[in-house]
Amino acid sequence: MFHPLTVARTSRAAEDAVAVTLAVPPPLRAAFRHVPGQHLTFRHGALRRTYSIASAAADGGADLLTVGIRHVPGGAFSAGFARELAAGSWVDVLPPRGRFTLRPRPGHFAAVAGGSGITPVLSMAATLLAAEPAARFTLLRSDRSAASAMFLDEVADLKDRHPGRFQSLHALTREERSAGLPPGRLDRARLRALLPALLPCDAVAGWYLCGPEGLIDAARGALRALGVARERVHIELFHAGAAPPEPGANAAGAADAANAQAGTLTATLDGRRASWPVAAGETLLSAVLRNRPDAPYACRGGVCGTCRARLTDGRVRMDRNYALEPAETEAGYVLACQSRPLTDRVGLDFDA
Ligand code: FES
Repeated sequence: MFHPLTVARTSRAAEDAVAVTLAVPPPLRAAFRHVPGQHLTFRHGALRRTYSIASAAADGGADLLTVGIRHVPGGAFSAGFARELAAGSWVDVLPPRGRFTLRPRPGHFAAVAGGSGITPVLSMAATLLAAEPAARFTLLRSDRSAASAMFLDEVADLKDRHPGRFQSLHALTREERSAGLPPGRLDRARLRALLPALLPCDAVAGWYLCGPEGLIDAARGALRALGVARERVHIELFHAGAAPPEPGANAAGAADAANAQAGTLTATLDGRRASWPVAAGETLLSAVLRNRPDAPYACRGGVCGTCRARLTDGRVRMDRNYALEPAETEAGYVLACQSRPLTDRVGLDFDA
């Protein structure tokens, strides 16, 4: 459930981004305890947005949690409500969620982060290096320009605090610099050449790719070409393209809608189970929200994973999935915001 948290402070994270630090009161510390890489969901009226936690995790739950918010021009949330957040104001927040996580353990870990994708990676690196003396972290980050790069000081601070165990390389796509990598996008061919020069790729215990679709696809392709096992690669997409059209919006959609079934959805949420009708072609999340407005969701675009649930009965068609790992879909998990029924009875368990 959502909790109102007070903003302890805000600070500039980049020319067009802000770091918002929330105070977590002692009774909520356990609920808001996070695993590095997780995000918070903010709610303002009918709008919800997820923001990754940049600050390090603490054993008993942190008293302060910092998220990074990029101001998207014209963005209903980031350019409006989020811009007005200041010390002393408050915001409704869901406890941390997400499975793009790194639990500290010995080994060498690496990340390829683009733009605001640095945010969860910063929490991972800071927590890992502080908690696990036998761990190392290599970061390859990409930004348009130095001014747009979020959390530059925090990354520099990690270098100072953990010399020899933290290595970072910064690529700027639209800006010349006197040292470091030449400007340009990190495409697949460039990553394929760069990564083995930077670190022993096959000895990396976990790869974390976070950022826009183009960079993730390039990094995933490069790692595949380098022979890295799929289960060592973890992905979090920021900014997917537009959501697919609703069925019925065009001829192909109409055919899909004809395959979709009207029927009954039985859902378990916070220990309560109930059944409701679901219309043909409707997403399961829409059907649940009509009856349980407390159901978890944020992006409604198949990206954040907040609406993850286990399919316990029937079959569904998932329009798109940028959030679940193959092992999760094989285990029966679906994204409720992207799932439409293919059988007349469908069961979902949000608590699984
Ligand atoms: S609400 Fe974000 S994936 Fe469904």
